[in-house]
Amino acid sequence: MSEVRKIAVLPGDGIGPEVMPVAVAALRTALQRQGVYLETEEGLIGGCAIDAAGGPLPAETQELCAAADAVLLGAVGGPKWEALPMQQRPEKGLLGLRSGLQLFANLRPALLFAPLADASSLKPALVSGLDILIVRELTGGIYFGEPRGVFLENNERVGVNTYRYSEHEIERIARVAFDLAGKRRRRLCSVDKANVLEATDLWRQVVSGLASEYPEVALSHMYVDNAGMQLVRAPKQFDVIVTGNMFGDILSDVAAMLTGSLGMLPSASLAADGFGLYEPVHGSAPDIAGQDRANPLATVLSAAMLCRYSLNLPGAAAALEGAVDAVLRQGLRTADIAAEGQGVELVGTQAMGEALLAALESSAGGEAP
Ligand code: IPM
Ligand code: MG
Repeated sequence: MSEVRKIAVLPGDGIGPEVMPVAVAALRTALQRQGVYLETEEGLIGGCAIDAAGGPLPAETQELCAAADAVLLGAVGGPKWEALPMQQRPEKGLLGLRSGLQLFANLRPALLFAPLADASSLKPALVSGLDILIVRELTGGIYFGEPRGVFLENNERVGVNTYRYSEHEIERIARVAFDLAGKRRRRLCSVDKANVLEATDLWRQVVSGLASEYPEVALSHMYVDNAGMQLVRAPKQFDVIVTGNMFGDILSDVAAMLTGSLGMLPSASLAADGFGLYEPVHGSAPDIAGQDRANPLATVLSAAMLCRYSLNLPGAAAALEGAVDAVLRQGLRTADIAAEGQGVELVGTQAMGEALLAALESSAGGEAP
């Protein structure tokens, strides 16, 4: 094989180590068919890194990621580490990686696979054909703003976080969203709370100021409370949504559930140069960890995004997405997407992985490189 691509693999905690082997095997097969050899190296992040290396983001992991073509991550966190002080928690590992690698653009597509229309909590007519892309700013806003902490004031504790965005941070994420909207259905909705928060009023002004540079995209604005309501009332009105870090965290979970399960949703976190970290939107799901019940498809779809955005191998991405569609059409379902009373077969993580590999191998020879 002529080409080699090096991926840093960070399984993390909970169901991460169960879904990751499925995704890596599928990625390896999809790349092989394009004549690309996959080289992987595993690193520690989150709770498992705290246990083995004393902190959620060891320096070796950061070096491993910086030296790779892209990063594939499972999930971090779990009850075992919840009592730790904020700075030492597993989540800090993920946040540190996002900010250290300057992964400011988080792409969270909420796409309904047709065979799963019944798994959504909304009526099938409201969600059939749903295809929303949430573009979430990932290295700023209230997640990173200073001052932050819990302070003593007049003999009581006061908790402080700071919602903060500078113009260049708003502009660069808005440009990513305008560009993506231009390649889709050309509608961009910017979500803020400009009626109350000055920082998000600035957000609205900066986004509006760019609109004339993207005449093909229809820009609208929505307050975040209304956006949450509209997402569950009439989700198909949206094409691309752009918003800040915290609102994006919340709205992307809402949008994910429209598609039937958090277990189906991938994400990409991109730096300016196309380098990226790819992870499922679902968390570590400690309640089902170690039981072969986790849905590996969101991680497989994250690997597909990795092929598309960081490796520039759209054929491999399409093969992975096609294989996910194929196993769903075969009626295979992990517990999270198994709606009642249909001719579906309940399978575990591993069986889903085997079916996926079979689908990849039997698909019509794969696209030419
Ligand atoms: C997400 C998660 C993370 C976030 C947590 C685990 C830090 O909820 O990726 O949406 O809040 O960004
Ligand atoms: Mg979240």
